[in-house]
Amino acid sequence: MMKSIFFGVVALMFAVVVMQPEQVSVHAADPNSAPAGSEDWNYVHKNCSSKLHDQINMEFGASLFYLQYAAYFAQYKVNLPGFEKFFFNAASEEREHGIKLIDYALMRGLAPINDKFNLAADYALDNALLAEEGGSMALIALEKALAKEQQVTKSIRELIKICEGDLNDYHLVDYLTGEFLEEQHEGQRDLAGKIAMLKKMLVTNPHLGAYIFDKQNM
Ligand SMILES: [Fe+2]
Repeated sequence: MMKSIFFGVVALMFAVVVMQPEQVSVHAADPNSAPAGSEDWNYVHKNCSSKLHDQINMEFGASLFYLQYAAYFAQYKVNLPGFEKFFFNAASEEREHGIKLIDYALMRGLAPINDKFNLAADYALDNALLAEEGGSMALIALEKALAKEQQVTKSIRELIKICEGDLNDYHLVDYLTGEFLEEQHEGQRDLAGKIAMLKKMLVTNPHLGAYIFDKQNM
């Protein structure tokens, strides 16, 4: 009787010792490790990489969005060179952001290309805006630019939210927070200030107000 109890206890202890590593691996699964069947060097979770692709598209979309305004203000009938330069610069910056994210994705072993980008949609000036002239178009363009930057900031924050937390991709999160969000906040503040000033200058003489604003503030 004592013998069978002894062997029973030994068998139970053996089972506990053997099962332990398996239980530990279930509870403390490394969030950075790749699921079975996928590449595991520099692994990026697919939810995070998919949203990163969307962000790359959004940066190039923003670049085209600003190009159309630059081209609008460059026309001889509109001829506001300050706005033209401002929007060409904004377009170049967005393009650089897109390229930076492509470089990052490549470093992490991703293929940063997908089929979601719609060139036509991002380079199509709002018809309602084409009917506007001079001063009011300048204000509309700045307000649209601020709305676009808010949209981009929101998207970066969503990307951060997806990649942190359970996915634990703090390298990408740190890059986005330090490099991208800082610039977003500065850009939004700059646009908000320009909008407030231009509104004041358009009150009495919109054409003169837009002309002086273009010279002094852009
Ligand atoms: Fe950007």
